[in-house]
Amino acid sequence: MSTKPYGVNELREMFLSFFESKGHLRLPSFSLIPQNDASLLLINSGMAPMKPYFTGEVEPPRHRVCTCQKCIRTGDIENIGKTARHGTYFEMLGNFSFGDYFKREAIHWSWEFLTEVVGLDKDRLYPSIYVDDDEAFDIWNKEVGVPADRIFRFGKEDNFWEHGSGPCGPCSEIYYDRGEKYGCGKPGCTVGCDCDRYMEVWNNVFSQFNNDGQGNYTELAHKNIDTGMGLERTICVLTGKKTVYETDAFTDILAKIAELSGKEYGADEETTKAFRIIADHMRTSTFILGDDRGVSPSNTDQGYILRRLIRRAVRYGMQLGMPDGFTCEIAKVIINQYRNAYPELERNAAFVIDQLTLEEGRFARTLKQGNKEFDKVASRAADGKIDGETAFHLYDTYGFPIEMTVELAKERNLTVDTAGFEEAFRKHQELSHQGAEQKFKGGLADTSEETARLHTATHLLHAALRKVLGDEVAQKGSNITAERLRFDFSFGRKVTKDELAQVE
Ligand code: ALA
Repeated sequence: MSTKPYGVNELREMFLSFFESKGHLRLPSFSLIPQNDASLLLINSGMAPMKPYFTGEVEPPRHRVCTCQKCIRTGDIENIGKTARHGTYFEMLGNFSFGDYFKREAIHWSWEFLTEVVGLDKDRLYPSIYVDDDEAFDIWNKEVGVPADRIFRFGKEDNFWEHGSGPCGPCSEIYYDRGEKYGCGKPGCTVGCDCDRYMEVWNNVFSQFNNDGQGNYTELAHKNIDTGMGLERTICVLTGKKTVYETDAFTDILAKIAELSGKEYGADEETTKAFRIIADHMRTSTFILGDDRGVSPSNTDQGYILRRLIRRAVRYGMQLGMPDGFTCEIAKVIINQYRNAYPELERNAAFVIDQLTLEEGRFARTLKQGNKEFDKVASRAADGKIDGETAFHLYDTYGFPIEMTVELAKERNLTVDTAGFEEAFRKHQELSHQGAEQKFKGGLADTSEETARLHTATHLLHAALRKVLGDEVAQKGSNITAERLRFDFSFGRKVTKDELAQVE
C-alpha cells in the first residue's frame, strides 16, 4: 500500500486535475439544498444537482465535467462513530459524461486514477458489476486484466444506483481490501460484507434510465456516466487509518473538542464515540448553515435534520462536559479549515455562528428539564416500552426529537412506540386545525373577495416573516374573516420592535 503523505486537500486536487487532463470541465460544488427536486431534502451525491444535464432538459456547460460535491446522507446516523466509514457529511469526487463517453472510458480511467495516480495496490482492488452486465465484465477482465474470480456480480440492491426520482442505472464499484485485521472474521466475509475490511472506494454508474419516481423506468435519450469517490473514505484507505475520523479531515476538529472538554480522544469507547458524533454532526451542521442557500433549524424538512444534528451534538457535548457555546467554537475551526475549498463558509460565517448560538441555547434550556422528565418516564415505562403519547410529550414540551428519545431509550434497554408517536403527532395537528376552524366563520370556506384577499395576505405575511426572521418561522395556524386576519406562528424567541417594523 502507498504511504504517500496525502491529505484531503491534495487528493481533491489530484482527482480534479486528472479529469481535467481527460477533457473534463471542473465545476465548483453545487449547493447542498436541492433546487427543483422534491425527491431529495439534501444533496446526497455528485450527480444529484446535475439531474437536468443527464436527462437532457438543460444543456451542460460541457459534456464532460468533474466536481467535488458537498454531500449529506443522514440515513445511517445511528452508525456514526461506530464504523470506519459512516459520516453524515462527506465530499464526493466525481467525473460525469452527458451523452459523451460511456463504460469503457469510465472503467479504464477509474482504474488508472486509483492504481497509477493514487498508487493503490491493484492486487487489493476488487471490481463488482451488476449481475448480468457482461459488457462491464469483459472490460474489466479482457481489457483491464482483472482475473475473472476477482470480479463480483451483485444484484439490484448493491449494484444499481438510484436515489429519488431521475437518472439511474447499473453500476460497477471498486472495493479495496484493507486486510484481515479490519475484518469481522466471520466465515464468508468477502467483498460486499458489511464490516470494515472491504471498503468501497469508487462507484461507476452507467446512467441510462430515468425513474419517474413511481418505479417506471424509461431509456434516457443518451447514455451517461456518473461516478463517485468518497474523499475522506479514500484518504482513510490510502493512509491506513482505522476510520475516517483519524484522517486529516478531522484532526483540527477533534483537537478542538479535546481542548474544550479536557478529555482525550480514544480514552475509552464512550468518549471516542462522543468525539466522533460531535465532530461529524458539527461539520454537517456548519456546512448546511454555511451554504449560500442555508436554512435555519426548524421542525420541518432540512431544518429538522439540522436541528436533530445540532441537538445530538449538544447532547454528546454535555456528556463530555463541554462549556456553553462550544458548537460555535467548533464551527469556527471547521470554517477555517475549509474556507479555501468552500469560500461560502466564510461568507456566511456570521449566520452560522448566530444560528448555532440560538439553537444551542434553546436546546440547553429545555434539555436539563427534559432529561429529568425522561428519567421519570423511563422509570415508569411499562413492559420496557415508552408509549407514543409520552414520546410526543417529550417532543412537544421539551423539544426532544423522536430519534433522540429512541436513542436514549435504547441506552436503557427500552423501546419506544414510534408508530404511537406518529399517531399522537397527527392527532395533535388535527386538533390544532380544528381549534382554528376556524370557532370563526372564515378562511377558505368563505369565498368572498375580502376573505380571499386576506388569505393571500397571510401568505405575504408569512413570507415577510421568513425574510426578516429566517426560515425557522413556522405557521401554526391562521384565522381569517372578511374584516381581519390573524396569523399564529412559532419562533424561538421574542420578536423585537425593529423586526416587526421591518416585517410591516
Ligand atoms: N452517484 C453514485 C454514488 O453516489 C456515483 O455512489
